[in-house]
Amino acid sequence: MTDAFWDERYRTAELIWSETPNQFLVSETADLTPGRALDVACGEGHNAIWLAEQGWTASGTDFSAVGLEKARALAGQRGVVVGFELHDSTTWAPPARSFDLVCVFYLQLPEPERSAALVNAMAGVAVGGTVLIVAHDVDNLAHGVGGPQSADVLYSVDEVADLVRSSGFDLVKAHQVFREVRTPSGETARAIDTLVRAVRRKEA
Ligand SMILES: C[S@@+](CC[C@H](N)C(=O)[O-])C[C@H]1O[C@@H](n2cnc3c(N)ncnc32)[C@H](O)[C@@H]1O
Repeated sequence: MTDAFWDERYRTAELIWSETPNQFLVSETADLTPGRALDVACGEGHNAIWLAEQGWTASGTDFSAVGLEKARALAGQRGVVVGFELHDSTTWAPPARSFDLVCVFYLQLPEPERSAALVNAMAGVAVGGTVLIVAHDVDNLAHGVGGPQSADVLYSVDEVADLVRSSGFDLVKAHQVFREVRTPSGETARAIDTLVRAVRRKEA
């Protein structure tokens, strides 16, 4: 999906994602000391804004200029400073080893763009810093609900864990997690996500 596709999706007065932070961002950062954080593919900015509210020096990148305009407006309304920058995550890497936390939430890309984007994002994590990747899991097609219905943009825990490990990280968590969601008919159902959290190893 192109930046023009996402610009079009974001061109609504309302937020298309929630204003509240992702539940796994909240749980996985509870034991971290706030420092410098980057949210890659931040969309309308809810996660980066929440991090700023928790005392992180937060920034976010996305390739949708319209999404970022909404993110800046939301940060203004909430009275926090977040540096939002326009970047294509498949070709842009943050300054090397400069963030204590880099998050990537629900970045839906096929290979090889997905691995390129994750490797670029991980390059920004400082030694001892954390990378947190959460995305729609491929098992969602058979056993979950929601998210893209095309297997090529869905994640698997093993693939992400291998990429993260081979990029110089020690895994802290690598497993599926479940979210309760409402179906259009009003029933409660379960969405399946891949969650990988890891810490950059000291370089030899
Ligand atoms: C499903 S939304 C998730 C947004 C946000 N991470 C969240 O969880 O609310 C996917 C986001 O990825 C962004 N995106 C997709 N491909 C991208 C790329 N190559 N570079 C930067 N952003 C990209 C889209 O613009 C969109 O904001």
